[in-house]
Amino acid sequence: MSMINAALVESFDEPPHFRSVPEPVAAPGQEVVDVLAVGVHRATRAIAAGEHYASADALPATAGVDAVVRRADGSLAFVLAPRTGTLAERIAVDPAYAIPVPAESDPAVLVATMNPALSSWVALRDRVPFTTGQSVLVIGATGNAGSMAVKVAKYLGAGHVIAAGRNQARLEELLSEGADETIALTDASDASDASATTYAKVAADVDVVIDYVWGPPTELAMHAILQARTDHTRLLDWVHTGGMGGLDINLPSHALRSNALRIQGSGFGSIALEACALDELAAAIAAGAMTVRPRPFPLAEVERAWAHQDAYGERTVIAL
Ligand SMILES: NC(=O)c1ccc[n+]([C@@H]2O[C@H](COP(=O)([O-])OP(=O)(O)OC[C@H]3O[C@@H](n4cnc5c(N)ncnc54)[C@H](OP(=O)(O)O)[C@@H]3O)[C@@H](O)[C@H]2O)c1
Repeated sequence: MSMINAALVESFDEPPHFRSVPEPVAAPGQEVVDVLAVGVHRATRAIAAGEHYASADALPATAGVDAVVRRADGSLAFVLAPRTGTLAERIAVDPAYAIPVPAESDPAVLVATMNPALSSWVALRDRVPFTTGQSVLVIGATGNAGSMAVKVAKYLGAGHVIAAGRNQARLEELLSEGADETIALTDASDASDASATTYAKVAADVDVVIDYVWGPPTELAMHAILQARTDHTRLLDWVHTGGMGGLDINLPSHALRSNALRIQGSGFGSIALEACALDELAAAIAAGAMTVRPRPFPLAEVERAWAHQDAYGERTVIAL
């Protein structure tokens, strides 16, 4: 039997291990592709740790949620396979879900950037009726996905982008990366928090919120903004994309009755990602419109990759 190298999750309590596994076999309609780079994103880690709704029901499982691959015809593609895994030298994919990628793309840069960037891309292109000139608030803007959201919002024509986050130095940098205003967040989450006043002042009439934080910081932001809205019938689209600040929020029922507030999530499962023009996002990344810096590790060092903590603007990548 022909064998390939892969990274297997054998226990949710351990990092994936470098292992030899049988060569994949394409099912009818599938194609076997060469994997060039795989991102080690927050979701990749959470799925491998058994902490994500897409985590495997049975182990061992192949780690990895995404990959830049080379297809049999030599072309590059981006694939998403959170349920079957991507961290192997070769994987079987359905070509219908292979997103074309420009030939000149750097696979490591592309795979480092697609996951953080697609959250806001999908939110603004497909989850809400976003139109050119509207205003966007990004909560949790200092991380990779939040920073990409600032750039993506501007790229898609936002008139005004507000970046809210805890790291003051990153907030300052975001002012030169597309943000028009910033809101400094603290870990306090009561009404005495200064950020409540700032939300009311600079984000009262925002059209779309892309929220990577959730939990008490979102409760505070939502309360402050809803209280301060000039026109309570003006649609406020709140898109939950990440849970860095908590898994739950308390939402008083009157907040929904007294405002045109619409809350949606965006992530694996809530939308058919293959219908979200991700080829256009890949082209924008390849053209340098938005990039996250890859920190590459070889597949054989997958355990060391898992132990690596990304610096701001950096994303661990397994380069095959
Ligand atoms: N739905 C989707 O399609 C999608 C796609 C990609 C990512 N995500 C999710 O988005 C989130 C961020 O991912 P990422 O790739 O940006 O990770 P990342 O680069 O590691 O950034 C995470 C950031 O979260 C911020 N943060 C943590 N706790 C916070 C809090 N209580 N208040 C404010 N900010 C807080 C931190 O900012 P500071 O340290 O600067 O405060 C950190 O930089 C994760 O939950 C991830 O799963 C979702």
